[in-house]
Amino acid sequence: AKTMKEEDKLYRHDGVLYPVIMCPPENLAALENLEARPDDVMLVAYPKCGFNWMVAVLRKIITAGSGREQDAKMPPLIEFFGPEMVQLMSQAPSPRFLGTHMHPDNIPATFTDKKTKMLVIFRNPKDTAVSFYHFSVKNPVLPTPESWDKFYAEYMSGDVPWGSYFDHALAWEKRLDDPNVMVITYEELKEDLFKGVQQISRFFSFDLSEEQAQDIAQDSTFSAMKESSKDSHGPMSSIFFRKGEVGDWKNHFSEAQSKQMDAEFEKQLAGTRLGAKIKY
Ligand code: A3P
Repeated sequence: AKTMKEEDKLYRHDGVLYPVIMCPPENLAALENLEARPDDVMLVAYPKCGFNWMVAVLRKIITAGSGREQDAKMPPLIEFFGPEMVQLMSQAPSPRFLGTHMHPDNIPATFTDKKTKMLVIFRNPKDTAVSFYHFSVKNPVLPTPESWDKFYAEYMSGDVPWGSYFDHALAWEKRLDDPNVMVITYEELKEDLFKGVQQISRFFSFDLSEEQAQDIAQDSTFSAMKESSKDSHGPMSSIFFRKGEVGDWKNHFSEAQSKQMDAEFEKQLAGTRLGAKIKY
């Protein structure tokens, strides 16, 4: 990835950018052969909304709730699988833990057909942009942004991997009444992780004791996860665990950028139920 030309790191599929190293066209094609199960645990998030946080939380919930130890090395993103992994997954025991950053309309239809439960995590669009910027600076598989201003402009126009934040949000707004969809926000989880763990485990029908939920919440704070990730993620640790706070956008956004984002939020999401959940 280090020697790859910056402009070759992303490619467009159906108008949306994807990172070619992690998610080449053959991986997207292989998704056609993936068969969902009703008891799959599916996690969905636009990039940088707290996906890896909930990966850790869900692994602990599944382990506690099903008694089946979860493989912490297995990356759950279905678009990273490729043909061989898709094949292997067809033999994996239930409950399988899967995830995606894909726009809901691009998630394979098999998940809706099988009524697979999906946990969707959202984060306010300003902190998400800042997190995405830093991630792009540090992650060799993504093009390095020339500047924060340049990245911000790309983010606003949806020219970032997995597409436009607002497109994703608007599409989820339409699915809020689906009983197999649960939306939670990064900010809610920061506010009360114990409550979040309880809500999430109930949604997936895992019967956790109060003590188990408490333990999971305690082990999944930013500082606890950053510490343990030094073993699990090695040098990648600092890429995934940066600051873990609400409101870091204030250290990056200019007045004009903040106003523009507010106006965009107002135009796209004001008055929607998802918009009301995503506050900043
Ligand atoms: P920051 O860059 O703002 O620190 P994703 O996993 O979707 O890529 O999201 C990454 C963001 O989640 C990063 O945000 C990261 O620090 C934050 N994060 C990771 N673990 C967390 C935790 N346990 N609690 C709060 N935030 C966490």
